[in-house]
Amino acid sequence: MTAPDKILQEVAALRREINYHNRLYYTLDSPEIPDADYDALFDRLTELEQEYDLVTPESPTRRVGSEPLAQFTQITHEQPMLSLDKVFNEQDLQDFESRIKKRLDSEADLEYSCEPKVDGIAVSLLYVDGVLTRAATRGDGLTGEDITHNVRTIHSIPLRLDAQGMTGRLEVRGEIYLGKAGFEKLNNRAEREGGKVFVNPRNTAAGAVRQLDPRKAARIPLQMFCYSIGLVDGVEMPGRLGDVFELLEAWGLPVNPDRSARTGIDGCLDYCLDLLNKRNALNYEIDGAVIKVNDLSIQRELGQNARTPRWAMAYKFPAEEKSTQVLGVEFQVGRTGTITPVARLKPVFVGGVTVSNTTLHNMDEVERLGLRVGDSVIVRRAGDVIPKIIRVIAPEKNPAPGAIVMPSRCPACHSPVLKEGEVLYKCSGGLICPAQRKEAVKHFASRSALDIEGLGDRLVEILVDQDLISTVADLYRLEVSQISALERMGPKSAQNLVAAIEKSKQVTLARFLYALGIREVGEATAQALANHHQALQSVIDASAADHEQIPDIGPIVASHIETFFRQEHNLSLIDQLLQCGFVLEQRTSGENSNALAGQTFVLTGSLEQMPRNEAKVRLQALGAKVAGSVSKNTSVVVAGPGAGSKRAKAEALGIKIIDEGEFLALIQSLNH
Ligand code: IVH
Repeated sequence: MTAPDKILQEVAALRREINYHNRLYYTLDSPEIPDADYDALFDRLTELEQEYDLVTPESPTRRVGSEPLAQFTQITHEQPMLSLDKVFNEQDLQDFESRIKKRLDSEADLEYSCEPKVDGIAVSLLYVDGVLTRAATRGDGLTGEDITHNVRTIHSIPLRLDAQGMTGRLEVRGEIYLGKAGFEKLNNRAEREGGKVFVNPRNTAAGAVRQLDPRKAARIPLQMFCYSIGLVDGVEMPGRLGDVFELLEAWGLPVNPDRSARTGIDGCLDYCLDLLNKRNALNYEIDGAVIKVNDLSIQRELGQNARTPRWAMAYKFPAEEKSTQVLGVEFQVGRTGTITPVARLKPVFVGGVTVSNTTLHNMDEVERLGLRVGDSVIVRRAGDVIPKIIRVIAPEKNPAPGAIVMPSRCPACHSPVLKEGEVLYKCSGGLICPAQRKEAVKHFASRSALDIEGLGDRLVEILVDQDLISTVADLYRLEVSQISALERMGPKSAQNLVAAIEKSKQVTLARFLYALGIREVGEATAQALANHHQALQSVIDASAADHEQIPDIGPIVASHIETFFRQEHNLSLIDQLLQCGFVLEQRTSGENSNALAGQTFVLTGSLEQMPRNEAKVRLQALGAKVAGSVSKNTSVVVAGPGAGSKRAKAEALGIKIIDEGEFLALIQSLNH
């Protein structure tokens, strides 16, 4: 049936509207209409196209073809797709610039386009007269494979460019990738449905791009960032890469928003550092930064080596995920007797450090991973977080000896191990268990607790093993001669240690409460208890119901606190400490506990001069609330390097943002 003009106009308008909403949804991540309204537009278009036979290949209804391909077609790239040289340090990046300047015979400052090096698959998109006509993999750089059927399923890639009347051919190149959220979702589904888990986002994206059946590819929520142009034939393009990106964006192509133009290599190094700091907060995986000369005519002048351009360089970051093997599992006993499985690993360099063991948290985690000794696993260490086994990639071939079983007796004191609650296993030995005693003393002396300088973990272990101390109160009875007799302890360090122990008696009530190691009482809770009760005796006398009156203390923690102060051995320990001459102050010197009352702070990004926990406690000591997310009730956001979405949200809401320097100055000014 031939369509009346009115229908043709409606179809064109629907396509425009659907493309517009696709872009908001898939590229900009900020949809304007509910899904149901979008579906209604889509259904109407499908209906009209069918009724009037108006289907065209670039219609938004035609993204997923229905028939699998029999095989891939080879595509010869009209211009080879190059690869990048890589460097791992500053000096090599400086050398890169020196080589360029030498070749150009100029000392003038150069402008660079700095971009994240997205960990995905390189592709080439060919637009003919503005219509996506062909998509190909990089292959060996000269010949790739036709993957148009799969690329069409990627919603953020326009089937027709938003460039009225464009004629000619334009090849856009970029990286197809799978975002962290998309990967997470796929793997959660695979785990739920008992399917095969995906190793990492890159492999998953590579697999999807190389599917013969586009319906399978369409199930993987792939995305793309465009990073260069190849063949240009009859299309006017700007002379600088930065302007090319803006034009591509205006045509509806996705370009990485985290790119930035910088002057000189020092500017690029700043960029790399910032990018490394915010790596964790990005919603896609990167393996470094790419630095490119911005001016396309200078790019042409510099030319290329065999397979790599002279005008670009990859600055690689340490990999955050590596595979290794589980050599064994040990069971560690914590301060409160909790027994934790810890995996011993074949040492692996990941996230910038060598990892040779990692906690498995509890037996549920072991089960969830389906882990056995001997398995090959993926270890992830991102930023400063503790390394973690995230999945098993190849099970041990002979699993019989590899089963991980909770021991029935404590590995430190041989007392029976008891199951507590759903997932916890505990040693029943209490204070007869040397492992628990050691952990209690380590915690007591730690930086956030009494901060006893010179009393490190190793020394605590020796003191307990040699029966010089049994509880923390024994620390205050140690003599210089006893300590100096220990291996590698001279009289001077022994004296210093005794002095540091002596000094620790002068401490705030909050730190003292934290140091006692009450179950689930961290620094913030200890501070809240101290603020509320003001005196130790009042904390001891209070009931669980009293503790629950304190904001942020729930019934479970309240009952742990009450239980702790009803146990005779704990009260006797506190008595002994007080008899040793402890002086408990309510506040840290000069801190005005109300100066920030009523204000809510959010800490984001990395703080370099003060651990985030300490910053939190300091704020709470000044009466502020510290929240995890930004809302209109937030008063101030403290944003360190790498601050991402929280900072952006604060900006959007017009909330005051301060950096670490301003934060430290604020705290200091309130402490006087
Ligand atoms: S430019 C001639 N820019 O890294 C320039 N590549 O090792 C060619 N990649 O094959 C590439 N992000 O797959 C460029 N912003 C970016 C990139 C990027 C990721 C990949 C790309 C390339 C590989 C080179």
